[in-house]
Amino acid sequence: MREALLLGPGPSNVPASVLAALARPTIGHLDPEFLALMDGLQSGLRAVFRTANRLTIAVSGTGSAGMEALLTNLVEPRERILVCVNGVFGGRAAELCRRLGADAVELTFPWGRPVDPAAVGEALDRSAAKTLFFVHAETSTGALSDAAAIAAAGREHGALVVMDCVTSLGGLPVEIDAWGIDAAFSGTQKCLSVPPGLAPVTLGERALARMDARMAPLPSWYFDLGLVRRYWGPDRTYHHTAPVNMLYALAAALREIAGEGLPARFERHATAHAQLVAGLAALGLSLVPPEGARLPMLNCVRVPDRVDEAAVRAALHARHDIEIGAGLGELRGKVWRIGLMGENAREGVVRRFLAALSEELRRHAASRPA
Ligand SMILES: Cc1ncc(COP(=O)(O)O)c(C=O)c1O
Repeated sequence: MREALLLGPGPSNVPASVLAALARPTIGHLDPEFLALMDGLQSGLRAVFRTANRLTIAVSGTGSAGMEALLTNLVEPRERILVCVNGVFGGRAAELCRRLGADAVELTFPWGRPVDPAAVGEALDRSAAKTLFFVHAETSTGALSDAAAIAAAGREHGALVVMDCVTSLGGLPVEIDAWGIDAAFSGTQKCLSVPPGLAPVTLGERALARMDARMAPLPSWYFDLGLVRRYWGPDRTYHHTAPVNMLYALAAALREIAGEGLPARFERHATAHAQLVAGLAALGLSLVPPEGARLPMLNCVRVPDRVDEAAVRAALHARHDIEIGAGLGELRGKVWRIGLMGENAREGVVRRFLAALSEELRRHAASRPA
């Protein structure tokens, strides 16, 4: 297998220390040594989520499993939920809520734009939704939303606030307690730089009370957090076999993040982003989201007219071993999505990418009929 530089929307490259942790001998998922590792892992997750929430664990499955676990436990059939949609992942949450039988009201924003907190407040006035869902960092468009202001609007209206921070966690400040977020989920394969396969989640007291007061039977057994939490808590009751080696890997990554420190890590992402944006501008390329609402870790770049988006992307992969992402949904064929996530938010990586892109754009222009 060739090793590629993963500059798409995730997965990102995994550091050697985390790969080494994955390769450690598998032990039993109820072995006392492993249970101690899980305790440390929960503390490490509380530190990156910036929360004191008791129920802060890693759900088995990718980021979508985190979404499904939270919404399945927190939303009841026929209950109204306001879902902010400014890209693919808000749309995915709305679809999931409909499948759960909830009354999902979509509040839509143009792709590439952040969620507008004032519009959220007005929509909550109109809809009287019990729950509010939004995506902090919309990976399909590169737009960053103001989570603190959106959560404040939700709380003012008495709604339970659920946040998707799959792309932001570990690369941008995420302040679960300070912002008043009731429940949030993420994924390991982006700014945490762990392979895909786990979904860190955190639920505060209001979310736990909502779970406990639930009237309708839970439509999922695997994602029943009331059962799952008994394995992560002092009872240690078997629910499903934990993915032992993936949890080793996440624990190792959390130790690396603690060693680096969150402020330094965020600064590294911001610096790499600024360097990339300057280099892209020098090549005549611009980003979709407006300044001030751009994600540092996912850069959504307009493909110039007369450039074949897929051909350049394929050439980067074939000739330079660099993977970047294509556009999704309404941005398909129109953008490249360039990720600088976790391990890859580094000056040398940006330099290598810009050199490769500039070479391929020149080659592409030369091969085009005049
Ligand atoms: C913002 C956001 N939410 C949810 C998901 C779903 O995560 P996964 O693909 O790991 O299931 C992704 C994945 O790209 C994402 O970027």
